[in-house]
Parts: sequence; structure tokens; C-alpha cells
Amino acid sequence: MEIKVKIGRPEKEKTEALVVGLFEGAKGFSREVTSLDKALSGAIREALNSGDFKGKLNQTYLIPAMAKIPASRVLLTGLGKEKEFTKDRLRQASGKSASYLSCLGLSSFATLLHHELKPVKDSSQALLEGCILGLYRFDKYKTNDKENGKKEIKEVTLLVDSKNDERGAWDGAFTGKVLAEAANFTKDLVNEPSNHMTPSIMAETAMLLAKNFKLKCQVLDRDEMERLGMGSLLGVAQGSNEPPKFIILEYNGNKKEKPVVLVGKAITFDTGGISIKPSENMEKMKSDMAGGAAVLGTFMAISGLKLPINVVGLIPATENMPSGTAYKPGDVLKAMNGKTIEVISTDAEGRLILADALVYAKRYEPKVVVDIATLTGACVVALGRHATGMLGTDDKVKALLKNAGDKSYERVWELPLWEEYEDLLKSDIADVKNSGVREAGTIAGGIFLKKFIDYPWVHLDIACTAWDSKEGPYRPKGATGVGVRLLTEFLMGWKG
Ligand code: BES
Ligand code: MN
Ligand code: ZN
Repeated sequence: MEIKVKIGRPEKEKTEALVVGLFEGAKGFSREVTSLDKALSGAIREALNSGDFKGKLNQTYLIPAMAKIPASRVLLTGLGKEKEFTKDRLRQASGKSASYLSCLGLSSFATLLHHELKPVKDSSQALLEGCILGLYRFDKYKTNDKENGKKEIKEVTLLVDSKNDERGAWDGAFTGKVLAEAANFTKDLVNEPSNHMTPSIMAETAMLLAKNFKLKCQVLDRDEMERLGMGSLLGVAQGSNEPPKFIILEYNGNKKEKPVVLVGKAITFDTGGISIKPSENMEKMKSDMAGGAAVLGTFMAISGLKLPINVVGLIPATENMPSGTAYKPGDVLKAMNGKTIEVISTDAEGRLILADALVYAKRYEPKVVVDIATLTGACVVALGRHATGMLGTDDKVKALLKNAGDKSYERVWELPLWEEYEDLLKSDIADVKNSGVREAGTIAGGIFLKKFIDYPWVHLDIACTAWDSKEGPYRPKGATGVGVRLLTEFLMGWKG
């Protein structure tokens, strides 16, 4: 999508549609809206007076311009009560208006929405995020989808009233566009069915990303993983005919600093293995690579924004399948650091592939490692769909992630990692077991991972946030792309 920032007055702007935001129950209009209303012979005032449009959050109301102004139509967008207004509500209103206009078949529009919050940079970032996220659809497998004669919105113009706002509006809009396009890229990977998103295809996708975004990329195959002693990851992979891949990405935006390492779980399909899952809802387990996909999207974003930091991405990728060669409950695996793991459930596979990746991360002498994974169903029980679980050893990084979560509205919520929980995973025959009793499932996942780190570390459990069977205000149901905007906002604030 192309963005333009233009100094100008709405009643003079020639465009397919002009988007105007109004608060619920507002007494007066801003200067811009007052003169626009006048040019429209009071049509905006009339919409409010008649009660047809109340300004309720995400309400839309279309006014044909009848050649009174150069714009063809005006779309009024409700912003809700002014006192309750937030950046996320702006994302919502923007997403709603963009998808409304795209359903009309338009290909461009101009908007005033970014005037509602200060500074203009944050406002225009939220506007573009909402707009591009809101337009996302996954319809590549619909062979005759001519839904509403839908055209694509190709251009958005931000109308600003003075030179002062031009720079901020542009910077914010650019950031918003990069973040939203990266999140949409991640949604595409997660929405892909597992026969189209195998570990090999994921590795090729990473290679292509690296080529297009000036990243270093290396892919380890099974032999190399064997040489490195990644017995935990290979244990999970041994039941599948699809070869496992270990994807390594590097972004260098800085000469000297030690890197932040991001680790993303990529189980391209999780059947549960021999501890097989019930068939109901199993199709959703194509999304069990959402952590890895979020890491790929984050690399797209940080490269697009040219952040002045160093970041390494590690993505262990494999299927988890039952078969004659599959690993079994009771098996003992040896991870890359020599620790032995008794497998109680082959369905607790995410922590097994992450264990080797976390050990591998040590060679970069990381400032911090953040892993992101659809790790536990228990996280859905604990937090529902509105927060990602966060556990870890570094208070400073946890605070930064909390802040990034509030900014991006991909919010995180902390759970404890107290030593008393270690009992959950004591094995009778090995150093640790991969699952225990039902209680504290998400914490047990964190406790397991903690055995494989010796650097500052934070774990993000996105089992609850990576997939939503209901649509959200600026996304359709399915993959959410969670993690990309969260991690990129975190890295934007990272000072090393
Ligand atoms: N991929 C699942 C977790 C999951 C569940 C993600 C639901 C998204 C929605 C993970 O591999 C898993 O199966 N975890 C087990 C762990 C248990 C066996 C200790 C779980 O949550 O039941
Ligand atoms: Mn599983
Ligand atoms: Zn899994």
C-alpha cells in the first residue's frame, strides 16, 4: 500500500472517499470538520441531528458528496466517547473504515483520523496499523471468490493541516505500515495449512525473506543437528517423514553490541504424537508454528525500520507425528547441553524443540533471549484470548515487554517461576521430565525451559493469542499475527 501525506483542507481534496472521525456526544466540531460540513450544506450535522449517526465506536455512515466538494463521498466513523479514547480505539476505527471502503470496491481514500491523538506520530502509526491490519484477508484457496467485487485499497492519503505535522505524520505512518505488513506476513504463514507450510517450506520462506530484507540466513538439516547433539529436537522430529529444519537468521544494524536472540517454536503440525490429541479442533494445530512465524515477521519489521541493534533469530521447525519411528512416552532424550529428559507426554513437544534452540543461543553471548511459543493449552485456561503469558528471569526485560505490549495492544501478563514449582517436573530416572500433573501447566512449561538457559531470558506463551476463532476489531478470525508488533515495539525501545 502506498501512503501519502499532504497538507490540505478536506473540502478541497479530490479523492474517492474522505474519512472523518467523530466522537460520541461531542458538542462542537473541529475547525476542519466545521468547514467541511459547511461545504456539504450541513450534511454532517444533519446525520447527527437525525440520530442516524451517533459516533458510537466503530459505527460507519456514508454521505454521498453530490458534487458539492471534490471528494466523491464522506465516511463518518464513530470514535466512541472522547474520554474513553485510546490508541487502540483509533486502530479499530481505522480498520473498520478501511475495510468498509474496500467492500465498496474503492482503491484509495483520504483520512483525517490521525488528528484525534497527540503526538501526531503515534496517531498516524495507529491509523496505518489499523488500516493495513483491518484489510487483511486469507482467501488464496478460494477459487471463485469475487466477494462484493472487492478491489484492493492501494493508496491512503493522510491530510494534515500544517507543515508542523507533516514529518511526524509521515514517520508514524511509515512505522505503522511496516509493522502491519510484517504482522500480515506472519498471519499468512500461520493460516497456511500444514501441507503447504512444512519445515522445508518454512526454511525456504526464511531464505527468501533474508534475500529481500538483507538478512543473513542459515538452515541446519538433520545431519548437522545430529552432529550438534540436538537429541531433544530430533526426538520430536523422528516420527515424521518431513525433514526437520533449524533456521538461523541474523540482522546486524550495529557494529559492536551483543545481540538479542529471539527463539520461535515452529511445529508445523502438532498431532500430539503417540500421546495423540483428540480429533476435534486438531486442524487448528497447523498454527503451532506461530512462534517461529512471529520471529520471521519481526525480522521483516526490524529490517524495514532499520533498527540500530543486532538480533539473532532461531527457529526449530518440525512436525509432531505418530508413526512406527515416533518417539514414545517413557523415552529418554539427551539435549544439546547433555541434560537428559524423560518424555512423559509426546504432546509436550514444544519445550523439547525449544530446549535445544535455547542451548544453541548461548554461542551468541546474548544480552537477552526471548522465546515465543504456542506452548500450553493451560495458558488459554488461565488468560483467555486477551493476554500472552510471560515468564522469565529478567525484570528489566519483562518491564520493557509489558510496556511494548501496552503500546501495541498485544498485551502480556506475567506468571511466576518460583523455585517451589520445580517439583512439578522431577523425574525418577532422568534430569527432568517434560510434563507433570495438570496443575500450573503454563508455569511447568516455563520451569522446563529454565533448565536450558544461563543468560537473561523471557518466555512468551502465545497458545492463547496466536489464533482466534472469533474475529477481532481489526482482523478476521484465524491467525492473529501476535508477537510481531509486540517484539518490534520492544526492540524499538531496546538500548542494549
Ligand atoms: N501446541 C500445544 C499447545 C496448544 C494448545 C496451543 C492449544 C494452542 C492451543 C502444545 O504442544 C501442547 O500440546 N501442550 C500440551 C502440554 C501438556 C501435554 C503438558 C497441552 O497444553 O496440553
Ligand atoms: Mn503438543
Ligand atoms: Zn505444540
